Amino acid sequence: MTAQILDGKLVASAVKEEVAAVVSQLDYVPGLATVLVGDDPASHSYVRGKRRDAEQVGIRSFHHELPATIPQDELEALIDGLNANDEVDGILVQLPLPGELDSEAIVERIDPSKDVDGLHPFNLGLLVLGKKGLRPCTPSGILRILDHYGIETAGARVVIVGRSFLVGRPLALMLSERGADATVTVTHSRTEDLHGETTDADILVAAAGARGLITAEHVKPGAAVIDVGINRTDDGLVGDVDFDSVVESAGAITPVPGGVGPMTRAMLLVNTLSAAKARRS
Ligand code: GUN
Repeated sequence: MTAQILDGKLVASAVKEEVAAVVSQLDYVPGLATVLVGDDPASHSYVRGKRRDAEQVGIRSFHHELPATIPQDELEALIDGLNANDEVDGILVQLPLPGELDSEAIVERIDPSKDVDGLHPFNLGLLVLGKKGLRPCTPSGILRILDHYGIETAGARVVIVGRSFLVGRPLALMLSERGADATVTVTHSRTEDLHGETTDADILVAAAGARGLITAEHVKPGAAVIDVGINRTDDGLVGDVDFDSVVESAGAITPVPGGVGPMTRAMLLVNTLSAAKARRS
């Protein structure tokens, strides 16, 4: 049996339509500021996509492109200006920042009510407490795609490979929140028996940033496999999962590209709309 393909493009389109319908009923235009520092081609491409998405759903995009040589205090002053700008509901600083820039300090500078990436310590604190707040986009996108395809998290054993603050750690918290009710294991580069852990998973999330790390032998037959990896190769984008082998035995799988990536972008729009509604109500 080959796995069902979990089509992130399709689900992201549905999410975008929902956001566009709500935005069209508002008596203001929500605004998303994107901040792009340096000339990393991947970051440029991501931010271009995010701005295009925003415009497609009726969110106004405010774009700031800065040289990698910008001093920390100038970047912080830009964030202060965006915090004070009433037309801006969400601020996204594309990570990683180049050179010596202190990205933690920049993220912490963002007004938590405009932190549509959900990465400010205040919002991450709300997540730990199980309180309402802006949640990180990639984990939210993963929950949404599982929900769309009726893949039950309650009672499921979820194994996450990778403990980054962008994906692995917040996802573990979100999956174990009341309502999602999964039993979650977080593994990482120092996990002794990765194979022993992953073969237990009903839902396996690969978010290690290691091309082809997860092969068919890591996957329990019938499991759902979510591939968060985005590895650039001469053959194009590939994930952390060896798709061709895993697709043969898994129950469901997200492709790369076209899986988690579009969901991350869609959830940024959801967060921008939530931030706009909360700020302007
Ligand atoms: N770089 C890679 N993923 C992300 C993300 O979700 N948000 C931001 N701001 N930068 C990223």
